[in-house]
Amino acid sequence: MKVLVTGGAGFIGSHVADRLLADGHDVVILDDLSTGNVEHLQANARFYQMDLRSPWIDELFRIERPEAVLHQAAQASVRRSVDDPVFDAGVNVLGTAALLQASVHHGVRRFLFASTGGALYGDADVTPTPEDYPTLPVSPYGAAKLSAEVYLRTFNALHGLSYAALRYANVYGPRQNPHGEAGVVAIERPRPQLGGRRLLQRGHRHRNRHQHHLRDAEATDRKQPARGARPAPGRGAAPLGGRRAEDREDPGLAGEDDA
Ligand SMILES: NC(=O)c1ccc[n+]([C@@H]2O[C@H](COP(=O)([O-])OP(=O)(O)OC[C@H]3O[C@@H](n4cnc5c(N)ncnc54)[C@H](O)[C@@H]3O)[C@@H](O)[C@H]2O)c1
Repeated sequence: MKVLVTGGAGFIGSHVADRLLADGHDVVILDDLSTGNVEHLQANARFYQMDLRSPWIDELFRIERPEAVLHQAAQASVRRSVDDPVFDAGVNVLGTAALLQASVHHGVRRFLFASTGGALYGDADVTPTPEDYPTLPVSPYGAAKLSAEVYLRTFNALHGLSYAALRYANVYGPRQNPHGEAGVVAIERPRPQLGGRRLLQRGHRHRNRHQHHLRDAEATDRKQPARGARPAPGRGAAPLGGRRAEDREDPGLAGEDDA
């Protein structure tokens, strides 16, 4: 199957692209390299350095004709979304709408969206937070991800586009970007400067946070492109479970965001 992976030079997208290639799929990557890294790209994937909002997006679909789209590209910093909500919405809402439109024009069979559990439910007081918990984002990033999910449902209702929204918790693992949503969990790579200190994660004292390893996110993403079933309206989300971790405050060791 030919799969277009947006954000395929980023943390999660590059691992999923690696796995799709290993499973024998044909992979095309679209990434503007704003936070991604060319070193994460595999030689046997075709790469387009392009912004999601580029006027050439339709041309890319015409040339490549992907059967599935795995949409990982995003402005993924909660803090930046607070500082510049218009930029955030431009990438995360309008960029997603442009991709959905091109997908419909060019007969994509399945559209997978990297949503968020952490930022969508806001300050949820139920843990683990169930899929049907009210979505009450408290950041423009969460609001944009929720809007993108509504666009998915709308494109499904209007055009029958099959989709799933994957509500990741805080993903951590190799290639992790400390400035994105993942920055709340300290990067796995050993840091010599830590000495004997414990690795802690950022957040509010006495609050729980869900996290899951990159391998779990990747495994779920990888199973999705082949699934053709159209979800019933409102049933497109597939939240991923995560391990509970007690938050401790230690702003020095993790990234800047708190999703
Ligand atoms: N990492 C997490 O804990 C986490 C949690 C929940 C949701 N998510 C979502 O998962 C997805 C991947 O996150 P990540 O942690 O791998 O982030 P990342 O920053 O490592 O990857 C995002 C990729 O998108 C690319 N990109 C950004 N804006 C673009 C644009 N306008 N056009 C084209 N490419 C663009 C970047 O260059 C980067 O390669 C994102 O949609 C993010 O919102 C991540």
